[in-house]
Amino acid sequence: LVLPPCDFTVFGGTGDLALRKLLPGLYEQERRGQLPAGTRIIGVSRSPLDDAGYRDLVTRALFDHVAEDHLEAGALHRLTARLHHLSLDIGSADDWHRLHGLLKDRPDRPAGEEATRIHYLAVASELFGPICDRLDALGLVTPECRVVLEKPIGADLASSHQVNDAVGRVFAERQIFRIDHYLGKESVQNLLVTRFANVFLEPIWNSRWVDHVQITVSETLGVAGRGEYYDKAGALRDMVQNHLLQMLCLIAMEPPTYVGGDPVRDEKLKVLQALKPLTGADVDRFTVRGQYTSYGEKVGHPSTTETFVALRAEVQNWRWAGVPFYLRTGKRLARKESTIEVVFKEPPHAMFPHSEGVTTPNRLTVRMQPDEGMQLHMTAKHPGPGGIRLHPASLDLSYADAFDERSPEPYERLLMDVMRGIPTLFMRRDEVEAAWTWTQPVLEQWERAAVEPVRYHPGSEGPAAAARLLARDGRRWQEAGR
Ligand code: BG6
Repeated sequence: LVLPPCDFTVFGGTGDLALRKLLPGLYEQERRGQLPAGTRIIGVSRSPLDDAGYRDLVTRALFDHVAEDHLEAGALHRLTARLHHLSLDIGSADDWHRLHGLLKDRPDRPAGEEATRIHYLAVASELFGPICDRLDALGLVTPECRVVLEKPIGADLASSHQVNDAVGRVFAERQIFRIDHYLGKESVQNLLVTRFANVFLEPIWNSRWVDHVQITVSETLGVAGRGEYYDKAGALRDMVQNHLLQMLCLIAMEPPTYVGGDPVRDEKLKVLQALKPLTGADVDRFTVRGQYTSYGEKVGHPSTTETFVALRAEVQNWRWAGVPFYLRTGKRLARKESTIEVVFKEPPHAMFPHSEGVTTPNRLTVRMQPDEGMQLHMTAKHPGPGGIRLHPASLDLSYADAFDERSPEPYERLLMDVMRGIPTLFMRRDEVEAAWTWTQPVLEQWERAAVEPVRYHPGSEGPAAAARLLARDGRRWQEAGR
């Protein structure tokens, strides 16, 4: 597939996301020779850097964030040669004209043929509308143009409508790529393949056989360097409304007719619409808000923003009626680990009355990090003569062992999809809004009841209330590898 040259503009070009994820992702594409010939990368930010300064900044970031054995002089040179920087004050007409001049100045293109423009908005979502309006007014939005939006889109349901309306006045839905990098993780995509390219799971993938589902994203890092954004967002907006609900969708969705943009997104949307609303007293019963004890010091003032959330959700449809989906995520926890656990029911009848040991409920673990892979936990016979000894054992698929190729970083994969115009792994407007619709009453109830986060110690498992949420139902969180 030969792609036309691309002008990839990153608004927020000197920010944390650009330097840690986007540019390393573009670098990997460069290394593999996948960037279209003639592509330019234009960082836009307020900082007064020239092209040379930006090239230095990005080179340093690549040394910090690209795997050492992937750093190649040739690829580094080719990538940095594509880089430009434009300092832009969003209110300055002159600055916008300079951007216009840069983007229109493509002597390599035949008259009338422009490069494909991709505008990546790695800035706060209140700026999406004003940036799109300016791009439009300057004639920088053609039908081939795409815009990439970083999450969270809006801070609640009403503001997400406003942001989507503002962007939608300039770009058609097919041009809008709302990124959720969890959908770019290999193991998350493999969930679709495991469910739908095999037959053994689908017959038992329902309330008859599944006892409950757990989705955990636990991080060891705090909010270093991102306090200003994070303190306004909190874990529910930053992680649950997008990453965790998207994973829940992939677990719970019906088989789409084929794996393509709208069929997949139609099915995910139905799951979001089937989520049982958590309102009033249910919010108090089924959600836990936590904050690590040193958070206030980190952001420089006392704060009630949550850095941990655990909650119990339900999908009200034929397949999942009565099956709890427990979600939890938090910062400064004991481990960096993202997993999905699908826990099956006990066998209907105990068949080994004279055996030693007990049956272990079957459980499918999808490990997104560390060590991407899957494990199917089961009960096996412990080898040996004499009576039967039941013993937990597992079938283990480790990506690193099973495949020679390294898993691409999520942004690397998703940026390539944007360049190729493939929308399957991006969120459609109706999905984002359905996710906000479900999240909104939780935000409101927390605010109305002035729910203070419970404190937990950095490096711990999070608040004890999260364990109680499951203990009340006679269940417990599965810990890594067990
Ligand atoms: C981002 C959040 O979307 O995901 C961050 O804004 C979080 O707060 C990050 O740290 C986690 O991503 P990953 O891939 O490291 O689990």
